[in-house]
Amino acid sequence: MLIYVLETIINAIWLMMPAYISNMCAVLCGGGTPIDLRRKFRDGKRMLGDGKTYNGFIGGVFGGIVMGAGQNIIAPDLGLPHFTIPALICLPLGAMMGDTTKSFLKRRAGHECGVPLPLVDQLDFVFGALIFTAIFSYGWFIENFTLWVIITIIVLTPILHKLFNIIGYKIGKKDVPW
Ligand code: CTP
Ligand code: MG
Repeated sequence: MLIYVLETIINAIWLMMPAYISNMCAVLCGGGTPIDLRRKFRDGKRMLGDGKTYNGFIGGVFGGIVMGAGQNIIAPDLGLPHFTIPALICLPLGAMMGDTTKSFLKRRAGHECGVPLPLVDQLDFVFGALIFTAIFSYGWFIENFTLWVIITIIVLTPILHKLFNIIGYKIGKKDVPW
């Protein structure tokens, strides 16, 4: 039982690592030209805001792919799942799309850029990564993301996310530690 729980936690973290690193790299690489080019939506508010930049998006996707490719090298030795090429792309790209979509919806709901939205801010990239992978890499997704793995990811991610954001805050990449 305990072995099964531990195995599920390790699998969950391993499988989401490209998405986690993607989210972290977006913060580290962030800054510069905003994706929305400072344009406003019909409602007069920014489309995405200054917190969503090209550097962050591209750095996030790239960082996640590099992470997954690196994991593939050691996967056989560790006996952990291998990432197929579509999975390698879908996890980070989905993570960044989820994060960007969340910001679009946040602006529509009238939340200023950077204002925290608990759980939504912490799980946006997870759902993006899962949805993208489920759509474009269905076979691999079904094979690896069991219901328990998904539940573990949803419970564990807000805790890990908090940790990353505190780091981002400490190194001056985020204005607030959440
Ligand atoms: N970041 C970026 N580009 C991205 C994602 C993140 O440049 N595509 C950087 C920005 O410096 C951003 C920081 O990472 O301020 C934290 O990201 P996040 O919390 O997702 O954005 P917020 O600034 O909180 O904006 P929002 O309210 O839209 O969530
Ligand atoms: Mg935020």
